[in-house]
Amino acid sequence: MANNSVIILAAGKGTRMKSSRPKVLHEISGFPMLYYTIKDAQKLSDDITVVLFHQSKLVQETMEKYFEGINYVIQDHQNYPGTGGAVMNIDVKHEKVLVLNGDMPLIEADELEKFSQIDADIVMSVIKMDDSSGYGRVVIDGDEVVKIVEEKDATDDEKAIKTVNAGIYLFKRDILERYLPKLSNDNAQEEYYLTDVVELAKNDGYKVAPLYVKEENFKGVNSKYDLSCAEEIMQRRIKKNFMLSGVTMHLPDTIYIHSDVEIEGESVIEHGVTLLHGSKIINSHIKANSVIEDSKIVDSSVGPIARIRPKSELYDTHIGNFVEVKKSILKGVKAGHLSYLGDCEIDEGSNIGAGTITCNYDGKNKYKTIIGKNVFVGSDTQLVAPVVIEDDVLIAAGTTVNKDVKKGSLAISRTNLKTVEGFFDKFFKE
Ligand code: UD1
Ligand code: MG
Repeated sequence: MANNSVIILAAGKGTRMKSSRPKVLHEISGFPMLYYTIKDAQKLSDDITVVLFHQSKLVQETMEKYFEGINYVIQDHQNYPGTGGAVMNIDVKHEKVLVLNGDMPLIEADELEKFSQIDADIVMSVIKMDDSSGYGRVVIDGDEVVKIVEEKDATDDEKAIKTVNAGIYLFKRDILERYLPKLSNDNAQEEYYLTDVVELAKNDGYKVAPLYVKEENFKGVNSKYDLSCAEEIMQRRIKKNFMLSGVTMHLPDTIYIHSDVEIEGESVIEHGVTLLHGSKIINSHIKANSVIEDSKIVDSSVGPIARIRPKSELYDTHIGNFVEVKKSILKGVKAGHLSYLGDCEIDEGSNIGAGTITCNYDGKNKYKTIIGKNVFVGSDTQLVAPVVIEDDVLIAAGTTVNKDVKKGSLAISRTNLKTVEGFFDKFFKE
């Protein structure tokens, strides 16, 4: 399919989303819907044009963070509203043009390949549905499409048709060049319908072939409910792929994974785990209800109920419950309970006691804590950064470490305990 051009329609307002955010920027599995469409289009074509109108600057700037070499055009929406107006006056490089919608994030490149395997002047995607409401109905005669009728223009007989237009087409370029100028807006929505190109071409004897596709792949998102349904479908796909490649998942429906996360080796992901942007899990066990973002976890166990925040790297490390790690590199470390480890480096054989806190922020700047090998950090220790603890150090429970500690030392800061015998009865009973 490399010699087809692609036009992605993304100018619509998305009124039914009831949102100030442009429809195609609503996210599923961590990325805007339009991101997925462009990503798959890039696998097929070197000539991609995205048609924008509503909040075009925001949409374009967002996509430019992810992609290079994409053409953006602004639809003349005032004069030529509608899907037909959207594809008018676009210069395309190749002889065939695949038209995609920016609100169909579940389509994958191999589905799109099928369009070019059919020999016709127009190939259009159709779905058979029990409930066809909301879609354009497709009138088919034998193995050819006769016309598409939008719901708002359909007669009762046409409304009863169960075969609908999924909204993706492969056109020969000269068909678009010939018929787009002939479109009229004489219809219920007073819009220029791309779908009318089909009837015009058919009447002149061109061949329009239907390509039957699955609803699961060609689902359009028009509301926030649709958005959640599309995300569920994508989540199931993501998790199925991991499980087939050897990852164990417990109650996968309760696990949430962004689409760029990588999981390798014999990793185990327990229920309720959230794996976000940029995370990479290798041969590790992530226990129930932990959240990991933009971090690398190698040969380690995390959780239950732990939070690993961005730019952390764990190697051969055990992180237990209620431990928060941020922007830290831990190698061969145990931190079993209730700690905050931020902006630190901790080396092999070190043990972090319950309640340990790196005080990494003075209200203005962030500072680093560096802990060497075989350091035993007693419970309820505060490490006031910047601070360096050398190898083989013992820090007594309850210590506030506010200066560097030399190799082999004990660090202890504690006020002496005072006891008053007989106090209890005196205080409560007399
Ligand atoms: C369209 C089809 C309908 C089909 C359905 C499938 C037309 C006339 N109808 O209807 O037959 O069953 O898709 O989902 O094409 N857009 C623009 N500019 C515009 C209007 C829309 O770029 O002026 C874009 C939208 O951003 C969207 C796509 O075109 O990505 C489809 O628009 P939408 O309003 O959702 O069309 P439907 O009414 O769903
Ligand atoms: Mg739609």
